[in-house]
Amino acid sequence: MADQPVVRRRVVKTGISEERTNNSKVQSQYQPYKDAAWGFINHWYPALFSNELPEDHVEGIQICGIPIVLRRVDGKIYALKDQCLHRGVRLSEKPMCFDKETISCWYHGFTFNLESGLLSTIVANPNDKLVGTTGITTYPVQEVAGMIFVFVREDDFPDADVPPLSEDLPVRFPENSERFPHPLWPAAPSVLDENAVALGMHRTGFGNWRIACENGFDNAHILVHKDNTIIHAMDWVLPLGILPTADDCIATVEDEKGPKGLVQWLFTEKWAPVMENKQLGLKIENTKGRPYRTSVVLPGVLMVENWPEEHVVQYEWYVPITDDTHEYWEVLVRVCPSDADRKKFQYRFDRVYKPLALHGFNDCDLYAREAMQNFYADGTGWDDEQLVATDVSPITWRKVASRWNRGIAKPGRGVAGALKTTSLRFKDTADGLRPGYKVPKIPDEE
Ligand code: FES
Repeated sequence: MADQPVVRRRVVKTGISEERTNNSKVQSQYQPYKDAAWGFINHWYPALFSNELPEDHVEGIQICGIPIVLRRVDGKIYALKDQCLHRGVRLSEKPMCFDKETISCWYHGFTFNLESGLLSTIVANPNDKLVGTTGITTYPVQEVAGMIFVFVREDDFPDADVPPLSEDLPVRFPENSERFPHPLWPAAPSVLDENAVALGMHRTGFGNWRIACENGFDNAHILVHKDNTIIHAMDWVLPLGILPTADDCIATVEDEKGPKGLVQWLFTEKWAPVMENKQLGLKIENTKGRPYRTSVVLPGVLMVENWPEEHVVQYEWYVPITDDTHEYWEVLVRVCPSDADRKKFQYRFDRVYKPLALHGFNDCDLYAREAMQNFYADGTGWDDEQLVATDVSPITWRKVASRWNRGIAKPGRGVAGALKTTSLRFKDTADGLRPGYKVPKIPDEE
């Protein structure tokens, strides 16, 4: 034993530093956010693009652990809880509609009124005493610019308290041009503008919605885009990161009526772009300025103004499906008054921005968020992370979201993904079906 060499290890201190910006006092100001693994409820969320729900079509989705079925009848869209109150199957798995007013459960025939959710009959048991005494929750719906939004609410949330969609969308221009001037670009469009066209896509991200959301406006994350094709094809200057230089580098938006969130004063003297790291021999050499500004509002809507080109705005939503999956929405909005404008925008979207920005560039965000998931999956990551000065953005967001959310979603019950180790989850995965947002339909008998 004596001739065995002694191995000396240099011990690097890995304890949590007192210098971190999110000490326990700061953390206590965003406890509700830490509790919101399943999302914030009683908010408006995008559900589908309009073209995903043609006339008389039925589709099932899941938001904040709540299963929701949508049906379009004579152009009008209805949304109800997609969980039969008899024995819990999803109505959307095998849609059965006998008239324009109802949707029936394909299993034992419980039939619900689309408008009220009331149990209006049972196919083979119309005189049962349960009929007319109970029902399923309905959800307010609004369709704008080719997108369908649903107000995802608790079962007892009153109709009278449903806020307008505009309160859950980013700040608008030109109404806010004086408050949030944007001299470097034209006013950012909104899905609520006349002639607004929203083009985009949505896909399932495998991670909690909060770590996805924070990525979008975290000014240090742009490092993941350093080598992206669109950056170099366009010769855009994208800094290695952007450092805050003033205490008021972020404006919170907390008007009584209106969206709640924050706007970052990017591309002003309040933030300094970092173009070089001499120690590592890194330098940004591109030459074309690409100024943009990010903001975020409840329930987790990112707006990137002046991106990826002038007159266009990029919106992103990170819609919680479960506590470990979210639906990632990437949408470009432009006001297109004429058919020719629409065609031009669609062409540019198909040929340039979908492949290079919504894929390409944003694919890097998706894998970066998924790379964080294991650290946060059991909730301990929120305590163990050691944040720095650039993380002022997520910290501010967490505090605002904690102050103004309309409710913390409860963990899903009796729904896909509520339990991670059910035989069905394993079966679906083995069959090549990833956990996702839309309900797969039971195939018709062949
Ligand atoms: Fe729906 Fe029985 S489960 S009617």
